[in-house]
Amino acid sequence: GKGGYAHFMLKEIHEQPNAIRNTILPRIQDGLPNLEECGITPEVLREFRHIQVVACGTAMHAGTVGKYVIEKLARVPVTVDIASEFRYREPLVGEGDLVIIISQSGETADSLAALRLAKSLGAKTLAIVNAMGSSIAREADMLIYTHAGPEIAVASTKAYMVQIAVMYLFAFELALAVGNIDETECRRLVKLLQETPEVITGILEHKEQTQYIASSLITADSLLYIGRGLDYALSMEGSLKLKEISYIHSESYAAGELKHGTISLITENMPVIAVATQKALREKTISNIKEVKARGARVILVCRESDNVDPDAVDLKFGLPEFDDLLMPMIAVVPLQLIAYYTSVLKGNDVDKPRNLAKSVTVE
Ligand code: M6R
Repeated sequence: GKGGYAHFMLKEIHEQPNAIRNTILPRIQDGLPNLEECGITPEVLREFRHIQVVACGTAMHAGTVGKYVIEKLARVPVTVDIASEFRYREPLVGEGDLVIIISQSGETADSLAALRLAKSLGAKTLAIVNAMGSSIAREADMLIYTHAGPEIAVASTKAYMVQIAVMYLFAFELALAVGNIDETECRRLVKLLQETPEVITGILEHKEQTQYIASSLITADSLLYIGRGLDYALSMEGSLKLKEISYIHSESYAAGELKHGTISLITENMPVIAVATQKALREKTISNIKEVKARGARVILVCRESDNVDPDAVDLKFGLPEFDDLLMPMIAVVPLQLIAYYTSVLKGNDVDKPRNLAKSVTVE
């Protein structure tokens, strides 16, 4: 059942802190990541020259967060592909490459086909899967189960959360294995990852602001999500979540790309949800916010509570607690999930079973 929640989606959003604990704790030993049980050792990791992530939808967005984190920490190049594109592109993967397939259900037709193709080309494959015993879990060379428990709502929330938690752990272990970070730094990062459940619990105790933001979106025909770096990766997920269940058209854009076409869409009162949690990119994103504001946008900014914002540039703010930039996506995705959830509720939609969609896409 829904355990007292109005919808499975809300229940699953609340299950995220425990889902993270269940997923990461068994893979941490003496404060360091240990993925040996999954077939992943430092020796194995040092073999890979390139990592290719393949997935669909939300799982692909988790892979995109992983790309930023792996490249930053381990300096190993990562490409991310949509499974339905990868499989028909005569992809350039083979020996020496690691192909990571991310899938909640483990049965997504395109992702499964991509896995089989990668194997046939001689690449090593790693599956990050939630459903035990599923096809993708069975066929991959290496396997990390996410322990989110069953996800019922079509809109994925807790599965995404643990997919990115695993991407972090994997990135930490890889970075240590290739010698790009030392043990002290690795322990510091693991400790931060272990702190995320508590921080998320804190956000879940104050949902009013997300409800308020949602109530300001329900009349919109279309909106934009913008961000840079990890905030851009997160914007993609925020946008998909919203359009999937609220039926409001939305797009996510790398904030710096707006002036190459998209900014012409901005009209009076169009909502723009900007995510700015990455300190090094903050000023850049703020200047993009000012550009859309000057063209009439209604700006909703997701940033740290402690960030001072110019009231002339921002209409509404969601304030996040202080946390490390690198791990901020795990925290910042929560308000984006809640905004999508409440917008759907306020519009009277079937939140858990949005029209035209299936939980598991087993046909291509
Ligand atoms: O089971 P999978 O993780 O392979 O599913 C992939 C996508 O179909 C899925 O993430 C979809 O995008 C969600 N409904 C998004 O909330």
